Amino acid sequence: MKLFWIVLGLALLSCKEEKKVGPVQSVDTELGLYQETHRPQFHFTPPEKWMNDPNGLVYHQGVYHLFYQYYPEDIVWGPMHWGHAISKNMVYWENKPIALFPDEHGYIFSGSAVVDTNNSSGFGTVDNPPLVAIFTYHDVVGEKAGKDDFQTQGIAYSLDNGVTWVKYEGNPVVKNEGIRDFRDPKVFWNDKTNSWTMLLVAGDHLQIWQSPDLKDWDKVSEFGKNQGAHGGVWECPDMFPLKVEGTDMEKWVLLISINPGAPNGGSGTQYFVGDFDGTTFKSDQKEHKWIDWGTDNYAGVTYNNVPNNERVFIGWMSNWAYAQETPTEKWRSAMTLPRKLSLHRINDKFELVNYPLESLEEIRVPGSSEDITLGPELDKSLTFDHFNRSELKFKTSSQQFKLDFNNSLGEHLNLILDGEAQQFILDRSNSGKTTFDEDFAKNVQTMPIPDLPNGEYEVRILMDWSSVEIFINHGQYVMTAQIFPNEFYRNLMISNPGDVELKLDTFTIRPIKSIW
Ligand code: FRU
Repeated sequence: MKLFWIVLGLALLSCKEEKKVGPVQSVDTELGLYQETHRPQFHFTPPEKWMNDPNGLVYHQGVYHLFYQYYPEDIVWGPMHWGHAISKNMVYWENKPIALFPDEHGYIFSGSAVVDTNNSSGFGTVDNPPLVAIFTYHDVVGEKAGKDDFQTQGIAYSLDNGVTWVKYEGNPVVKNEGIRDFRDPKVFWNDKTNSWTMLLVAGDHLQIWQSPDLKDWDKVSEFGKNQGAHGGVWECPDMFPLKVEGTDMEKWVLLISINPGAPNGGSGTQYFVGDFDGTTFKSDQKEHKWIDWGTDNYAGVTYNNVPNNERVFIGWMSNWAYAQETPTEKWRSAMTLPRKLSLHRINDKFELVNYPLESLEEIRVPGSSEDITLGPELDKSLTFDHFNRSELKFKTSSQQFKLDFNNSLGEHLNLILDGEAQQFILDRSNSGKTTFDEDFAKNVQTMPIPDLPNGEYEVRILMDWSSVEIFINHGQYVMTAQIFPNEFYRNLMISNPGDVELKLDTFTIRPIKSIW
């Protein structure tokens, strides 16, 4: 056993990039960009200031674009811009100048981007097709004046693959007939109708619009007034087809973020599995489904135009319940890891599965593994320098285990599988800085796991300095949560709370390289 940790320690030493994060740093220390306390090392964060939703996710000419809700003046929400970063592999990101600024129509709220391949908009040429961004204008003057029609939809185009943008002079392209929450257009090309489809949320439901040229839009249908979770306003819709794994059956998946009303409080993203005939979406789903049971995966949407029809999802790793109070100073908020979505049929239920992209391999340092066996009510302690920049992975068929990550300050993050109660628990109530928000400080999150396999399944945990992402059975069950330990967790106590032997096979911890 000792040998395993020595080998791992040596592997770590040889791969260490010492210019990166240090273990214990006080918030007051003047540190370089991306080295500040709590700064994520393998998740996207803006170089500085406030960020929320991912926007305009589109792949074009070898580049994955990530635009995002951005306020460049402060670390709290304010007049919204679209910040911009690009990546070739969804691992390393390059920051670009701000793409869209507020104008006389209002702030630039969330939306999407498409490659207008046939130049239907006339903004470019077929040889140099325009990128077109479709977003919500939020007219704060109208809002303050007590109007209801202050959210409209606008468009802008870029002929240099997203570097510079020109707003359309005919904006707004979708006006508002008096719906207070009328926003977050997701546009995609629709082969069935040979036109563009726009999804828009309108308070408590989804509207579907259609256009030949991205400029003239007509409403064609609605969905959801009486379906799904309605604990809060509907936001950030997305919809796409997926083949049910292992079959030829195609279903459509609709994502709807709601705030508040998520199962563990505040904001969260529900999904519906159904059918789309080109104009109308229908689903006979009765239960409420969530893409992620953790508190910190919101407003997530998928990329347009990815090769091989892959569905790649990114969410905002925060929650409106406390997003503006989290204990960071230079920047605020991160994105989830990019995740591949797939649709499975498990015990006769459709399940949307999300799992990190394989390209993450680029930054995973090899680690050695061992098989761990623990008798009833026994535990085992491990130490490791970089839990807050690591991947932990094992296979088990156990229905009960507890992982307690902790540090010398007595801060603990507990992850507990309780097969008897059919739930997984994430307890961050004593995980580090928690008192910035009353609910965060009490936060114990649960995820029902009714269809956990009886046989062997994988548990994979990706931990950064201020987040943990847990994928059970390759993304069948997922939890994402922010954490703010004052010091890296360096100890892990594995316990067997059950009365049968606990076996964790090929238990592997790998350091992850910083992407900055
Ligand atoms: C979701 C959201 C969107 C809106 C944006 C404003 O987090 O509220 O509905 O467009 O944030 O920043």
